[in-house]
Amino acid sequence: MTHIFAHRGSAGTHPENTMASFIEAVRVQADGIELDVQLSRDGVVVVIHDETVNRTTDGTGWVGQMTYRQLRKLNANYKFKQYGFCPIPSLQEVLEWAQNTSLLINIELKNNLVPYERLEAKTIELVERYGLASRVVFSSFNHESMATCHKLAPDIETALLYMEKLHRPWSYAHALQALALHPYHPTVDQSFVEAAHAHHLLVRPFTINKEEQMKTMFRYEVDGIFTDFPEKAKNIREKTLR
Ligand code: G3P
Ligand code: MG
Repeated sequence: MTHIFAHRGSAGTHPENTMASFIEAVRVQADGIELDVQLSRDGVVVVIHDETVNRTTDGTGWVGQMTYRQLRKLNANYKFKQYGFCPIPSLQEVLEWAQNTSLLINIELKNNLVPYERLEAKTIELVERYGLASRVVFSSFNHESMATCHKLAPDIETALLYMEKLHRPWSYAHALQALALHPYHPTVDQSFVEAAHAHHLLVRPFTINKEEQMKTMFRYEVDGIFTDFPEKAKNIREKTLR
């Protein structure tokens, strides 16, 4: 069965990458959540997508140039006013909460544009502190970072994120000891999924928001999808399975 991951939480209905959007993912019984992590200036692993706070909060500036205290004062709810003030969570806060759920957790390391020193080690330390290694998948567009994660924590699954159609990505994934491919969905078709599976790789395309795309991905039997609308995806999956 295809796992449904709430992308940045339930980002289509709640403020992305906030506790409100992760709690909503549990309410709609998503199988997992996806979240993006970066480092504050004082080394706290924080959950936010862009390298600046400009788009998603009421502040301005680079995430990596602000202290956690400064980041915490910002309102990360720029879109869904009915949910009021929603701070940028720390990864610690999310994992502490998630240990009491059964969610799968995809932690995307957002270190492909801005390098963050020891982001991998700090993230792994938190995952292990809360005993979540078996439920966590690390992913990144920075594949060196995935190699680093695998070296530091070989028991935690790593996945390669990518945008373009790649030639035999299984050879590359095997070289990096990654267990999953997280491709941009237009690069995915039935034969690709079959080939990836034949090479013992999981396939989880992003970001699948339209009903037709969801149906197609369920028909391909991909292992997971990332969607901003997990409730809708759950309903469509139920109908598809019937
Ligand atoms: O991990 C899947 C997806 O989140 C990758 O793209 O830009 O939404 O982080 P983005
Ligand atoms: Mg992401």
